[in-house]
Amino acid sequence: IRSDYDEVSSYVANYVKERIKQFGPTPERPFVLGLPTGSSPVGTYQKLITLYREGQLSFENVVTFNMDEYVGLPRDHPESYHSFMWNNLFLHIDIKPENVNILDGNASDLDEECKRYEAKIALLGGVELFLSGIGPDGHIAFNEPGSSLTSRTRVKTLAYETIIANTRFFDGDVAKVPKLALTVGVATIMDAREVMVIITGAHKAIALGKCVEEGVSHMWTVSAIQLHPKGIIVCDDDATLEL
Ligand code: GLP
Repeated sequence: IRSDYDEVSSYVANYVKERIKQFGPTPERPFVLGLPTGSSPVGTYQKLITLYREGQLSFENVVTFNMDEYVGLPRDHPESYHSFMWNNLFLHIDIKPENVNILDGNASDLDEECKRYEAKIALLGGVELFLSGIGPDGHIAFNEPGSSLTSRTRVKTLAYETIIANTRFFDGDVAKVPKLALTVGVATIMDAREVMVIITGAHKAIALGKCVEEGVSHMWTVSAIQLHPKGIIVCDDDATLEL
């Protein structure tokens, strides 16, 4: 528990830096990092950019896998997760473009795209550290309430609440919000050797309570972290209101 969003962001960024340094990645043995979108990781990304600019951290031998992407939204749409990741992180660090992996929500065969993604993660030996945010309903990536805790990367229909929450990014027009997404599964995330979940703000307090003080449930998919041997939640004071 940290005092506020800024302290949470510093903690997570420093953690990522230390993990990459300890690992000592090489071209043959890169560090595989799972990444989220949303407002939760923006502060972390800014601090990672600062650490890179200060020469404290290099992404040269880091391979990233993003959690999710909307279906049918052009890749260069300002609200696509591709755009988000390049604008908020990748354009500002020394990562090699070929080391960036983001699901293609415009693939002609979406099921095949999901299989390809899982296979590529496996080929690289799995994810070392998966960073994540959560939705106020406790969803992790786009694993909406009711998602199987053994789910893998797949097409998912967004929950009504998620669509409504996302209208703010689409001119307030619900018709413009994509209704489908590709997302890594709960099990894809939990297979990572380490999982770190960022939870900030009073609007996430109920979800944090459900996640850590109640049972593991597919209705609050982030609660699967209880079963992870190295699951870490980094939250601010506001998010602890229901604990
Ligand atoms: C979307 C993303 C999630 C993210 C959530 C919360 O649903 N698919 O990965 O955790 O938004 O976003 P924010 O961090 O803006 O609250």
